[in-house]
Amino acid sequence: MEIIIQKTPEDAAALTAKLIAYRLKKVPDMTLGLATGRTMEDVYAYLCRLHKEEKLDFSHCHTFNLDEYIGIPPGSLYSYRYYMNRHLFSKVNIPHENTHLLNGMADDFAGESQRYEKLIKACGGIDLQLLGIGNDGHIGFNEPLSSLRSRTREKALTPATIAQNAPLCGNNGDTMPHRALTMGVGTICDAREIILLATGTTKAEIIAKATEGPVTAMVTASALQLHPNCKIIVDEDAAQCLKEKEYYHWIFANEPEWEAFR
Ligand code: GLP
Repeated sequence: MEIIIQKTPEDAAALTAKLIAYRLKKVPDMTLGLATGRTMEDVYAYLCRLHKEEKLDFSHCHTFNLDEYIGIPPGSLYSYRYYMNRHLFSKVNIPHENTHLLNGMADDFAGESQRYEKLIKACGGIDLQLLGIGNDGHIGFNEPLSSLRSRTREKALTPATIAQNAPLCGNNGDTMPHRALTMGVGTICDAREIILLATGTTKAEIIAKATEGPVTAMVTASALQLHPNCKIIVDEDAAQCLKEKEYYHWIFANEPEWEAFR
């Protein structure tokens, strides 16, 4: 695992977007795992800019989103399909049929989860998975105590997650779903490369727990410590509680891999 600390949230999002763009240019038909949430909005805005100004080409890639709310139709303002169309898909040249999300309106959630796992495999597995982090340490919607080997399935959301995400769902107890379909921790960790982006002081404590604390199902993001190719990109606010900041800065300054991005 590598931890990269950037000055501002904008810098952290820009570095994340540049890394994605770099991989996409090298392997235009790559399979990208995508995330939602406020933190990702700047990443998608940057990618859209690269598409517009530098012709970054999305026409051959496939995308798989981490999760989707149960009971929210894809056309609803609050669905993750709507979020993705709005922030990325409608602004770049990705064919609609290459963009995959779980169907939160499916009749059979176990069947829908299996379909998704099979589709990811059929696309050759995920090359690069983008992640945010919930205030309770979730990745995707893998809430505390999710098995660290879990696969795509239905999950109940915790009160903390419902409170965190309600503003994106009209801040209304009626519109904020209590259940979701999500890739499992095991599904996420099968990705060849992972980038987790977190910004702001509200993420500081959980980032320290997930990266410098023990690997535990109580903080599912801590499973990333076992991943062979995982980068955690944070701004200074989200890095506040990290004990080994100087070491992380030193690595970033000395790793040749980062030369093109410093
Ligand atoms: C939701 C998503 C997570 C995401 C989190 C962070 O809970 N299921 O995948 O990491 O939001 O949201 P934000 O960026 O708004 O803090």
